[in-house]
Amino acid sequence: MSKAIYVTSSESNSGKSVVTLGLMNILLGKISKIAYFRPVIRENDVHRQDTYIQTMLTHFGIDTPYNDCFAFTYNEFLRYRSENNNSFLIDTIINKYKKLEDAYDFVLVDGMDFEGEGASFEFSSNVEIAKNLSIPMILVSKAEGYTPDEITRNILATLQFLRNHDVPLLAVIANKTNPSDVEELHLMFNRRLPKHLLSSVIPVINELRSPTMKEIAEAINGKILFGQNYLSNQVDHFIVGAMQLSNCLTHLEENTLIVTPGDRGDIIVAMIQANLSKNYPKVAGIILSGGLAPEEPIIKLVEGLETVVPIAAVETGTFETVNNVASVKSRIYADNHFKIDLAINTFEKNTDTAALMDKIVTSKPEGLTPHMFQYQLVKRAKLDKKHIVLPEGSDDRILEAAAKLLKQEVVKLTILGKKEEIEASLKRLNLELDMKNAQIINPADSALLPDYISTFYELRKGKNVNMDMATDFMKDGAYFGTMMVYKGDADGMVSGSINTTQHTIRPALQFIKTKPGVSIVSSVFFMCLPDRVIVFGDCAVIPKPTSEELAEIAISSAESSMMFGINPKIAMLSYSSGSSGQGEEVVKVRLATELVKSRRPDLAVEGPIQYDAAVDRVVGLQKLPQSKVAGQATVLIFPDLNTGNNTYKAVQRETGALAIGPMLQGLNKPVNDLSRGCTVDDIFNTVVITAIQAQQS
Ligand code: ACO
Repeated sequence: MSKAIYVTSSESNSGKSVVTLGLMNILLGKISKIAYFRPVIRENDVHRQDTYIQTMLTHFGIDTPYNDCFAFTYNEFLRYRSENNNSFLIDTIINKYKKLEDAYDFVLVDGMDFEGEGASFEFSSNVEIAKNLSIPMILVSKAEGYTPDEITRNILATLQFLRNHDVPLLAVIANKTNPSDVEELHLMFNRRLPKHLLSSVIPVINELRSPTMKEIAEAINGKILFGQNYLSNQVDHFIVGAMQLSNCLTHLEENTLIVTPGDRGDIIVAMIQANLSKNYPKVAGIILSGGLAPEEPIIKLVEGLETVVPIAAVETGTFETVNNVASVKSRIYADNHFKIDLAINTFEKNTDTAALMDKIVTSKPEGLTPHMFQYQLVKRAKLDKKHIVLPEGSDDRILEAAAKLLKQEVVKLTILGKKEEIEASLKRLNLELDMKNAQIINPADSALLPDYISTFYELRKGKNVNMDMATDFMKDGAYFGTMMVYKGDADGMVSGSINTTQHTIRPALQFIKTKPGVSIVSSVFFMCLPDRVIVFGDCAVIPKPTSEELAEIAISSAESSMMFGINPKIAMLSYSSGSSGQGEEVVKVRLATELVKSRRPDLAVEGPIQYDAAVDRVVGLQKLPQSKVAGQATVLIFPDLNTGNNTYKAVQRETGALAIGPMLQGLNKPVNDLSRGCTVDDIFNTVVITAIQAQQS
């Protein structure tokens, strides 16, 4: 079951809170601990609470602390967007959301509202957030002002957009529908929307659409003069009371607000009387404009009437006041029980709530975005802190990554190198290492050295290694670090920022050796593409694998992908798809695919297959229509190192994708290699995946 739902609309003023309130009510009937989360709130004033959060927490008695219910104010959101700091926005939202997901059984996420200058990109931001949180959506579509055909076309276009971004949509709710269109819209939805999509049609409800006097007075900075207890009066219309009194009376409709200059005592008194008269409709309230107070005799008269018409005064002129009133949108406040109950009832009356709950319960989160992937990696590593050795203490990038890892308390570290030199570098870089979780060892004068030398000698004496050679080897950082892992003095090693791949991994191949049942060590990269994470193997270790080895690489890569939360769908890549091509290399891949199928019938595998058919749904369907992998492969196995290494680098360079790895697979204990061009973040990520591998060892 998905642990959350994301409610979004595709434009402003859709009446989304009817759906969020209704949804919260039905969810609470099934699930006891539910949190409410708004990634971005409207309220920019830190001293005032966001109305939507306040209403949810108060009405449903939700115990989440207010500050945990949102990630950014709207101004902050716009600022970070304009600074191109999208990663920070998404990472912060994921962090705050995940905190709630961990503490509660379910999270109702309420998307942005399209009310400010960022409205043009709010929908795509909502989609991006839902995608990164890996949660399905419910779309609230505004029906007011559109024909049934236009509403349906709008929804179909939105649906296509969501499909292109791989965000699952569970239901679509047309809200504020003209009552005379409800039936036709139902029919149109049945005919034109996909069958799996749940749809409902909610008619416009005036009591929900219209703001109250309280909302208007607050929005226009009105000072309440009379009728404090009647501020919940609903305002359906407004008129300007600048005309003759008799004309004014003829314009009155049910729930009208009158905007009139403060010195029009005649209008004020007449409107109060009209409200009492059975021949005139209810007057919602009066706004006195222009900063003019009614004269004393008028005030005295109104006071004596115990008026039930709320009267507020504003400083702005009549014209500006009318414009301000016109722009006020209805909100549902925590103390407006009538509106809350009406919203919930309206939702329940017009939605198949049982079917909706069923959809929510059965939907499964799919895919993993790079932000979520990295978030989960760090979180997992922290759960059971492992001890990682970094042999290249003379490299500044290693020290920077170490400082970051220790600060975030992700792992414990041993850094190899001369203590004085490392301390001097730290000083120069203005870095501090948290030494309660770290140590610096110089292999050449370490107390561990004699034992390591004799262990290495014993392990490798059959390979013509004598004691002198063993001593030399063990003074080398890669050998010493690997021996720490072998002996259990560390849980994993990350090296290669200044040494070659061969230099880094050869010690592990020589004495850490492969796991039982695995004959070769190979590697994978986690390729963090803009919208998903896929696995590439092997792009770093085995130059020319045989069919047997290719099958092993595929199986190990599938296991690695599972270890990191990616559902493996294996594509055995070649220059041929299915039976289309010929040649020795195609035969090798075909045979490897058959070996995977016979050894691991539980794994989804396709091969030979070309890259485009493996990852593109349209091409995949065209070339291999029966395949369960074509078009949706998540694990891509290259036929040899030449293809694999160049492809990973090409994808990385040309798309800007983050490539995490190579992560070695098949070893008894984790050792991982860095590229010499690695960044501090690459080192950080490689240490994190090494720690997770160590947790599994
Ligand atoms: N799996 C398991 N064991 C292996 C493997 C393997 N893939 N390869 C070698 N071994 C074992 C050998 O059996 C040998 O064991 P033994 O000494 O106990 O008998 C031991 O490892 C050492 O073998 P060597 O022959 O000394 O090592 P070799 O010279 O074959 O080097 C290496 C192995 C380093 C993996 C080699 O295959 C290689 O250079 N691969 C390409 C690395 C590379 O340049 N990658 C591209 C750059 S990486 C990047 O771009 C991020």
